[in-house]
Amino acid sequence: MNHTTFQGESGLAKLSGIRHSFPALQRIHHGKSVAYFDAPGGTQVPATVADAIGNYLLHHNANTHWAFPTSVETDAIISGARNALAEFLNASPNEIVFGANMTTLTFHLARALGRGYVRGDEIVVTELDHHANVAPWRALEKERGVTVRVAKMIPETGTLDWDDLARQVGKRTRLVAIGAASNALGTMTDVRRAAELAHGAGAQIFVDAVHYAPHRLVDVREIDCDFLSCSAYKFYGPHIGVLYGRNHLLAALDFPKLIPAPDSAPERAETGTQNHEGMAGAAAAVNFLASLAPGATRRESLRAVFSELHECGRELVRQIWDGLGEIESVKLYGPPPGEPRTPTVSFSAAGVSSTEVAQRLAEEAVFVSNGDFYATTVVERLGLAPDGLVRAGCACYTTEEEVERLIDGVKRIANPK
Ligand SMILES: Cc1ncc(COP(=O)(O)O)c(C=O)c1O
Repeated sequence: MNHTTFQGESGLAKLSGIRHSFPALQRIHHGKSVAYFDAPGGTQVPATVADAIGNYLLHHNANTHWAFPTSVETDAIISGARNALAEFLNASPNEIVFGANMTTLTFHLARALGRGYVRGDEIVVTELDHHANVAPWRALEKERGVTVRVAKMIPETGTLDWDDLARQVGKRTRLVAIGAASNALGTMTDVRRAAELAHGAGAQIFVDAVHYAPHRLVDVREIDCDFLSCSAYKFYGPHIGVLYGRNHLLAALDFPKLIPAPDSAPERAETGTQNHEGMAGAAAAVNFLASLAPGATRRESLRAVFSELHECGRELVRQIWDGLGEIESVKLYGPPPGEPRTPTVSFSAAGVSSTEVAQRLAEEAVFVSNGDFYATTVVERLGLAPDGLVRAGCACYTTEEEVERLIDGVKRIANPK
């Protein structure tokens, strides 16, 4: 796909072009095309991403920093991937750290930060967050004697209780760890405002952008965050995690590392031999997104694409919300359309477990996820543990017709006649 593919074409033609890039969308289940609503758990992957991974493994595979061509090519591919992810986040390439996934990177960062914390230091987390942005900080309670404070969510709106966050942040706060978007409810939280609060108290801020990054263009400079993490498999890439850290912080932190391994940032934050093919794939995912709109730079293209994707997402949320909202036994959670949110809508159906809803939709080739999605506290606060939520998440390839199939399917399951 190139920059001119969509110019002058209608939205539908554009969507069809996008869908064409994803071989998985050709899958048939029980005689029907699969409608994938599992994007918040991981999106499908365009062929160009799989090609980049295959191309690396088949033609450039080597370890780094040696004199022969495949090693030189590997170094170039890694450097290209840092550039791509830096543009994706509006960071510098020397601020981009790769790792297994967000959870592993966050445990690694927490360990490094924790080495500078003392008993009585405080970290503030939130009830709205995925536990990957809670457990790594909780580990420091045991290891370093720090205190973790928890800012509340408001269950009725599925949003952060800002007054409570302000109460939790104080003189002893060293870090505020907060999510930019809830993977359970779609709620977007103003992390720029949280950064001001944290910095005002002399603390740092870590942002979990795993569920945000597929839907809104991240800008680490605008957010003014110290650290931010996301995962390429949520935005059309392979299973690899990305950590942004301000260069001077990455350069100074006491990361667990081998003495002979590179000691300059960002490499000093990466352990062992990296997932080179994953980096190639992550860069290809950024390039795929950038290819969907013209722009003078990759960042400009990304800006245009994300603003279009956001518009499409808003329409799909409205359609899901209105359609499911008409079903009497269905309850919707999280912010309504029009509020800051991603196109991820969660619901429950009275008298039918979330697993049964997901299983019966799967019979109709509508793939939704269910459970707590490790946003365990959200589900507890909503009074839905242990069954959890049914979650329908849209991606760039989601169509209105697929949403209709979702709504019709839920109607049949929730109102059996
Ligand atoms: C909001 C959020 N944070 C963190 C994670 C954990 O990401 P990873 O699987 O890359 O460790 C997820 C995964 O679903 C998520 O949705």
